[in-house]
Amino acid sequence: MNRKSVRVLLLVCLLVSVAIYIKNSHGISGIRRISNSTTSKVISRETGVTPGLHNQSFDGAKILPLLTLFTTWKNTKEKAIVIRNTIQNWRTFHPNISTVVFSNSVKRLHRYARKHGWKIWKSKTVTEDKIPLFRDMFIQAMKQQSSVFYGYANSDILFTPSLMKTLQKIDSFKQNNTSPILVVGQRIDFSVVNISFPNNFSYIVKKGLHNGKLNEPDAIDYFIISKDFPLKDFPDVVVGRIAYDNYVIMHARAHRVAVIDATKTIPAIHQTTRAGNMEGHMQRNKLYNKELLNKEFDITNYLGGLTTCANYESVRNSSTNGINLIRRKSKPGYCVKMFESW
Ligand SMILES: *[C@@H]1O[C@H](CO)[C@@H](O)[C@H](O)[C@H]1NC(C)=O
Ligand SMILES: *[C@@H]1O[C@H](CO)[C@@H](O)[C@H](O)[C@H]1NC(C)=O
Ligand SMILES: *[C@@H]1O[C@H](CO)[C@@H](O)[C@H](O)[C@H]1NC(C)=O
Ligand SMILES: *[C@@H]1O[C@H](CO)[C@@H](O)[C@H](O)[C@H]1NC(C)=O
Ligand SMILES: *[C@@H]1O[C@H](CO)[C@@H](O)[C@H](O)[C@H]1NC(C)=O
Ligand SMILES: *[C@@H]1O[C@H](CO)[C@@H](O)[C@H](O)[C@H]1NC(C)=O
Ligand SMILES: *[C@@H]1O[C@H](CO)[C@@H](O)[C@H](O)[C@H]1NC(C)=O
Repeated sequence: MNRKSVRVLLLVCLLVSVAIYIKNSHGISGIRRISNSTTSKVISRETGVTPGLHNQSFDGAKILPLLTLFTTWKNTKEKAIVIRNTIQNWRTFHPNISTVVFSNSVKRLHRYARKHGWKIWKSKTVTEDKIPLFRDMFIQAMKQQSSVFYGYANSDILFTPSLMKTLQKIDSFKQNNTSPILVVGQRIDFSVVNISFPNNFSYIVKKGLHNGKLNEPDAIDYFIISKDFPLKDFPDVVVGRIAYDNYVIMHARAHRVAVIDATKTIPAIHQTTRAGNMEGHMQRNKLYNKELLNKEFDITNYLGGLTTCANYESVRNSSTNGINLIRRKSKPGYCVKMFESW
């Protein structure tokens, strides 16, 4: 190659780079698909698919997990204690619940999570802010881990064994019903800022059940679905930004999913830190989901996506102390607003 063509080549490279830069940096982030090649490689050492239901292998311990529960996190100093609590709390449900973090950048807590039996996976699709897509975490989890249900919860949410009891009931309900399932619920806010043992998860669960405050039906911090949930045409919304949570319920209702409000049987304790209870409202690109949903589906009203719009409810039966699923007889009028189909 002569000098002139080298110069031309360099110029072309420069122009292409500038074009890519402009394309990626304009306005609210576009979705960046990470290619399969090296980056999408799963970094967990334990990604083997779990043997089938009641497959009593040599150690007799291999059961099909009831739930694959995953999260993703951003590690700030304040959040580190909270995330460690979550890691410890969720591990108490092993092996019935398999726990996973989708982590693209923060490595500091990996060792701690792995030590507690968590799997660490790289998410295949993220936005510029490195947040995984809601839909793609589920699709990836279904490929990499077999279980009856799949769930996402925010990394500051603690659960009790009631989560498993409710899901066992829902599993038997599902065996008699062809509809896909979505389980959601309100959370309980409990401030861990001034308590004596902010790093003791069982203390927080105990105190939270007692002194926590039930948040509103429009803030949903966990989503559990069956394998047949309609994910195929689910939009590119991300977790950790407002509006995706209500959209999940609206999408489910529009696709004839049996939506179950488990507020009464699945306590979900939100460890509130100094950042408060409205974190989704304070992030960079906070309107990312709203703008996308408005553009794609013309959605401006999210009232059809409250937990109160679920068509089923799980309740405690005071005479048997078991859990029952009941069909809601009526829903608030605002539920009809959008996507009403049944
Ligand atoms: C990339 O991943 C997608 C989804 O997992 C898969 O369908 C496709 O076959 C993969 N492509 C390559 C080249 O591995
Ligand atoms: C149990 O799991 C093993 C793999 O771990 C598989 O080879 C075997 O076929 C399974 N047995 C049944 C009955 O599903
Ligand atoms: C897992 O589920 C089995 C069967 O329902 C139950 O006997 C066991 O206690 C559960 N394990 C934990 C740790 O809750
Ligand atoms: C599902 O059907 C079976 C058999 O009819 C019944 O025993 C069971 O109670 C049902 N489960 C639920 C949750 O309705
Ligand atoms: C925690 O204590 C500080 C100092 O006493 C106080 O200003 C703050 O309001 C308390 N925060 C909460 C959430 O109770
Ligand atoms: C954590 O709290 C629980 C419940 O209040 C208590 O039983 C336990 O001793 C505490 N653990 C530590 C290490 O403080
Ligand atoms: C509680 O359980 C009993 C016995 O299974 C049943 O007859 C009753 O209808 C249940 N109550 C509710 C509120 O589901």
